Amino acid sequence: MILQSLSWGCHTLLSILVLHGANLNLLGRREPGIYGHETLKDIDAALEQQAIELQVKISSFQSNHEGVLIDWIHAAWDQHQGILINPGAYTHTSIAIRDAIAAVALPTVEVHLSNIHRREAFRHHSYIAPVAIGQISGFGAESYSLGLQALVHHLRQDALRQDKA
Ligand code: DQA
Repeated sequence: MILQSLSWGCHTLLSILVLHGANLNLLGRREPGIYGHETLKDIDAALEQQAIELQVKISSFQSNHEGVLIDWIHAAWDQHQGILINPGAYTHTSIAIRDAIAAVALPTVEVHLSNIHRREAFRHHSYIAPVAIGQISGFGAESYSLGLQALVHHLRQDALRQDKA
Protein backbone atom coordinates (compact mmCIF):
# COMPACT_ATOMS: atom_id res chain seq x y z
CA MET A 1 0.00 0.00 0.00
CA ILE A 2 2.82 2.37 0.91
CA LEU A 3 4.68 1.46 -2.29
CA GLN A 4 1.51 1.96 -4.30
CA SER A 5 0.81 5.37 -2.85
CA LEU A 6 4.44 6.37 -3.30
CA SER A 7 4.25 5.55 -6.96
CA TRP A 8 0.99 7.54 -7.32
CA GLY A 9 2.78 10.47 -5.72
CA CYS A 10 5.45 10.14 -8.40
CA HIS A 11 2.72 10.20 -11.04
CA THR A 12 2.83 6.55 -12.06
CA LEU A 13 -0.32 6.17 -14.11
CA LEU A 14 -3.43 6.43 -12.01
CA SER A 15 -6.37 4.65 -13.57
CA ILE A 16 -9.80 6.30 -13.59
CA LEU A 17 -13.12 4.71 -14.49
CA VAL A 18 -15.41 7.13 -16.37
CA LEU A 19 -19.08 6.14 -16.35
CA HIS A 20 -21.88 7.73 -18.33
CA GLY A 21 -25.39 6.68 -17.36
CA ALA A 22 -28.83 6.71 -18.88
CA ASN A 23 -29.56 8.60 -22.11
CA LEU A 24 -26.08 10.11 -22.32
CA ASN A 25 -25.48 8.15 -25.54
CA LEU A 26 -27.92 10.66 -27.09
CA LEU A 27 -25.82 13.72 -26.26
CA GLY A 28 -25.55 16.12 -29.18
CA ARG A 29 -29.10 15.27 -30.34
CA ARG A 30 -30.87 15.19 -26.99
CA GLU A 31 -32.30 18.53 -25.75
CA PRO A 32 -29.24 20.50 -26.96
CA GLY A 33 -30.58 23.67 -25.28
CA ILE A 34 -29.99 21.91 -21.94
CA TYR A 35 -27.17 19.48 -22.64
CA GLY A 36 -25.27 21.22 -25.45
CA HIS A 37 -24.19 20.08 -28.91
CA GLU A 38 -21.21 17.95 -27.96
CA THR A 39 -21.61 14.24 -28.43
CA LEU A 40 -20.46 11.60 -25.95
CA LYS A 41 -17.68 10.79 -28.41
CA ASP A 42 -16.54 14.44 -28.26
CA ILE A 43 -16.58 14.36 -24.45
CA ASP A 44 -14.64 11.10 -24.27
CA ALA A 45 -12.09 12.38 -26.81
CA ALA A 46 -11.55 15.55 -24.74
CA LEU A 47 -11.15 13.44 -21.58
CA GLU A 48 -8.63 11.18 -23.35
CA GLN A 49 -6.59 14.24 -24.32
CA GLN A 50 -6.81 15.63 -20.78
CA ALA A 51 -5.79 12.24 -19.38
CA ILE A 52 -2.62 12.30 -21.48
CA GLU A 53 -1.81 15.77 -20.16
CA LEU A 54 -2.49 14.71 -16.56
CA GLN A 55 -0.60 11.45 -17.10
CA VAL A 56 -3.46 9.24 -16.01
CA LYS A 57 -5.26 6.39 -17.73
CA ILE A 58 -9.02 6.51 -18.26
CA SER A 59 -11.50 3.81 -19.25
CA SER A 60 -14.84 5.15 -20.38
CA PHE A 61 -18.19 3.36 -20.65
CA GLN A 62 -21.84 4.31 -21.18
CA SER A 63 -24.90 2.28 -20.33
CA ASN A 64 -28.62 2.88 -20.06
CA HIS A 65 -28.88 -0.02 -17.62
CA GLU A 66 -28.50 0.42 -13.88
CA GLY A 67 -27.19 -3.11 -13.28
CA VAL A 68 -24.51 -2.76 -15.95
CA LEU A 69 -23.27 0.46 -14.33
CA ILE A 70 -23.19 -1.34 -10.97
CA ASP A 71 -21.18 -4.22 -12.48
CA TRP A 72 -18.60 -1.75 -13.83
CA ILE A 73 -18.36 -0.08 -10.41
CA HIS A 74 -17.75 -3.49 -8.78
CA ALA A 75 -15.14 -4.36 -11.40
CA ALA A 76 -13.35 -1.07 -10.68
CA TRP A 77 -12.37 -2.31 -7.22
CA ASP A 78 -9.10 -3.93 -8.28
CA GLN A 79 -8.56 -2.03 -11.51
CA HIS A 80 -9.02 1.69 -10.92
CA GLN A 81 -8.18 4.22 -8.23
CA GLY A 82 -11.11 6.59 -8.78
CA ILE A 83 -14.46 6.98 -10.52
CA LEU A 84 -15.84 9.90 -12.52
CA ILE A 85 -19.56 9.39 -13.02
CA ASN A 86 -22.50 11.11 -14.62
CA PRO A 87 -25.30 8.72 -13.69
CA GLY A 88 -27.90 10.69 -15.71
CA ALA A 89 -31.37 10.27 -14.23
CA TYR A 90 -30.11 7.43 -11.98
CA THR A 91 -28.62 10.25 -9.90
CA HIS A 92 -32.09 10.95 -8.58
CA THR A 93 -33.36 7.37 -8.25
CA SER A 94 -30.62 4.85 -7.68
CA ILE A 95 -29.90 3.71 -4.16
CA ALA A 96 -28.25 0.68 -5.81
CA ILE A 97 -25.62 2.77 -7.63
CA ARG A 98 -25.00 4.73 -4.44
CA ASP A 99 -24.52 1.46 -2.52
CA ALA A 100 -22.11 0.16 -5.16
CA ILE A 101 -19.97 3.30 -4.86
CA ALA A 102 -20.07 3.06 -1.07
CA ALA A 103 -19.11 -0.63 -1.28
CA VAL A 104 -16.00 -0.17 -3.41
CA ALA A 105 -15.13 3.00 -1.49
CA LEU A 106 -13.16 4.45 -4.40
CA PRO A 107 -12.98 8.26 -4.48
CA THR A 108 -15.79 9.28 -6.81
CA VAL A 109 -16.66 12.59 -8.45
CA GLU A 110 -20.24 13.12 -9.66
CA VAL A 111 -20.66 15.34 -12.71
CA HIS A 112 -23.62 16.81 -14.57
CA LEU A 113 -23.73 18.85 -17.76
CA SER A 114 -26.72 20.85 -16.57
CA ASN A 115 -27.05 22.57 -13.20
CA ILE A 116 -29.38 20.06 -11.55
CA HIS A 117 -30.09 22.51 -8.71
CA ARG A 118 -31.56 25.09 -11.10
CA ARG A 119 -33.87 22.59 -12.76
CA GLU A 120 -37.04 20.70 -11.75
CA ALA A 121 -37.33 19.92 -8.03
CA PHE A 122 -37.02 16.16 -8.65
CA ARG A 123 -33.48 16.74 -9.95
CA HIS A 124 -32.34 18.59 -6.83
CA HIS A 125 -31.75 15.44 -4.84
CA SER A 126 -28.79 13.20 -5.62
CA TYR A 127 -28.45 9.75 -4.07
CA ILE A 128 -24.84 9.80 -5.25
CA ALA A 129 -23.63 13.07 -3.69
CA PRO A 130 -23.31 11.72 -0.10
CA VAL A 131 -20.92 8.97 -1.25
CA ALA A 132 -18.98 11.18 -3.67
CA ILE A 133 -16.04 13.36 -2.72
CA GLY A 134 -17.71 16.15 -4.69
CA GLN A 135 -20.20 17.14 -7.34
CA ILE A 136 -19.69 19.39 -10.38
CA SER A 137 -22.86 20.51 -12.09
CA GLY A 138 -23.80 23.07 -14.71
CA PHE A 139 -20.72 23.64 -16.86
CA GLY A 140 -21.77 21.58 -19.87
CA ALA A 141 -19.08 19.26 -21.21
CA GLU A 142 -16.57 21.25 -19.13
CA SER A 143 -18.08 19.62 -16.00
CA TYR A 144 -16.32 16.38 -16.99
CA SER A 145 -13.00 18.10 -17.44
CA LEU A 146 -13.31 19.91 -14.11
CA GLY A 147 -14.36 16.65 -12.49
CA LEU A 148 -11.37 14.72 -13.84
CA GLN A 149 -9.01 17.47 -12.74
CA ALA A 150 -10.52 17.51 -9.23
CA LEU A 151 -10.43 13.72 -8.92
CA VAL A 152 -6.80 13.39 -10.02
CA HIS A 153 -5.80 16.23 -7.70
CA HIS A 154 -7.62 14.53 -4.81
CA LEU A 155 -5.98 11.15 -5.50
CA ARG A 156 -2.51 12.68 -5.69
CA GLN A 157 -3.04 14.68 -2.50
CA ASP A 158 -4.28 11.50 -0.80
CA ALA A 159 -1.17 9.62 -1.87
CA LEU A 160 1.05 12.39 -0.50
CA ARG A 161 -0.89 12.37 2.79
CA GLN A 162 -0.45 8.60 3.08
CA ASP A 163 3.26 8.87 2.41
CA LYS A 164 3.63 11.37 5.25
CA ALA A 165 1.58 9.28 7.70
C1 DQA B 1 -27.81 15.01 -16.14
C2 DQA B 1 -28.89 15.62 -15.27
C3 DQA B 1 -29.97 14.60 -14.94
O1 DQA B 1 -31.00 15.19 -14.17
C4 DQA B 1 -30.59 14.06 -16.23
O2 DQA B 1 -31.52 13.05 -15.92
C5 DQA B 1 -29.58 13.58 -17.19
C6 DQA B 1 -28.36 14.36 -17.38
C7 DQA B 1 -26.77 16.08 -16.59
O3 DQA B 1 -25.69 15.69 -16.97
O4 DQA B 1 -27.08 17.27 -16.58
O5 DQA B 1 -29.78 12.61 -17.89
O6 DQA B 1 -27.10 14.04 -15.38
